[in-house]
Amino acid sequence: MSPKTSLAALEAVGVELHAAPETWTALAADVLEGLSTTPKTLPPKWFYDARGSELFDAICEQPEYYPTRREAALLRTLGPALAGELGATEVIELGSGSSTKSPLLLDPLHQRGTLRRYVPVDVSASAMEAAMPGLAARYPGVEITAHVSDFTAGLAPLRERTVDGPRVVAFLGSTIGNLQPPEVHAFFGAVRELLAPGDVLLLGHDLVKSPSIVEPAYDDAAGVTADFNRNVLRVINRELQADFDEERFTHEATWNPMLERIEIRLRATEPQVVRIASLGLEVTFLEGESILTEISRKFRPEVIERSAVRAGLALRAWYEDADGWYGVSLLERA
Ligand code: SAH
Ligand code: TRP
Repeated sequence: MSPKTSLAALEAVGVELHAAPETWTALAADVLEGLSTTPKTLPPKWFYDARGSELFDAICEQPEYYPTRREAALLRTLGPALAGELGATEVIELGSGSSTKSPLLLDPLHQRGTLRRYVPVDVSASAMEAAMPGLAARYPGVEITAHVSDFTAGLAPLRERTVDGPRVVAFLGSTIGNLQPPEVHAFFGAVRELLAPGDVLLLGHDLVKSPSIVEPAYDDAAGVTADFNRNVLRVINRELQADFDEERFTHEATWNPMLERIEIRLRATEPQVVRIASLGLEVTFLEGESILTEISRKFRPEVIERSAVRAGLALRAWYEDADGWYGVSLLERA
């Protein structure tokens, strides 16, 4: 869980690294809290060790997982127009992961000659390390400052400005949908503090549609999402000396029509006791008992607008694809 190896690799390509890496104690606290209450839950950020980040990239290539392709298609069209309209000098990208879609936003700004600084933020040091050399080479002269940190734990270190001009805060991949409504409120409030007049939050969000399309996106036939989901058990086994047997948990993705969200669980196939040695904890599972590992909310425009307004942001523009599968919006400080 240490980004030490990344430091050298990033420095070698001229990327400045700010690391507030996830700690063993944070994982221990989350696991203790999440597995000793009913229903059992685990926070999603623990999926993303090196293998988890690779599995996530593989999810994005599955035929059933439409959000990545839909978002990329929207950005391909919007990117050049946005670059002209915003003339941004700085892009802060939250949850940037392997930054595969970032060039759709950065290229047009770079081509217009306005881009001075790119600030990716992600808990995954390995994803950051893999992505940055390519971006550093693609945007010579652009300052890249990578933050390995939790975007829900305060964005204050990102308030600092080293370049003048408009700033874009990008939050792509419908990662907003992985936050519960109170977390969205806190997140929007923290992002607001990063925005001056003329700056925008560029948000990508999956939209409400038939469960027959949404559910398979979270349960692909090749089993990549199932493997990704079980990865959190491997992380806990390794970091906390636990003995989860991943074969005894099945992956499940179900649409909750009331809350308009996908709920992702690991469900125990049989009764079992799991030992988590580092915590001195024994966790009992009944047959069929589950751990909620992720939610993925799907949005309607009014839901985004209402949450934004409540947090002191205003909806400046809304874009969606022709059949309303995926949307991108621009928010600004109200
Ligand atoms: N933006 C990319 C990746 C989306 S996956 C895309 O659109 O494809 C979500 C990303 O957010 C992962 O890279 C994961 O490591 C990161 N992430 C998840 N929770 C996080 C948190 N609390 N703080 C910072 N990064 C987080
Ligand atoms: N932001 C992505 C989404 O909600 C994250 C994601 C995709 C995910 N597939 C997943 C999270 C499977 C957990 C399990 O679409």
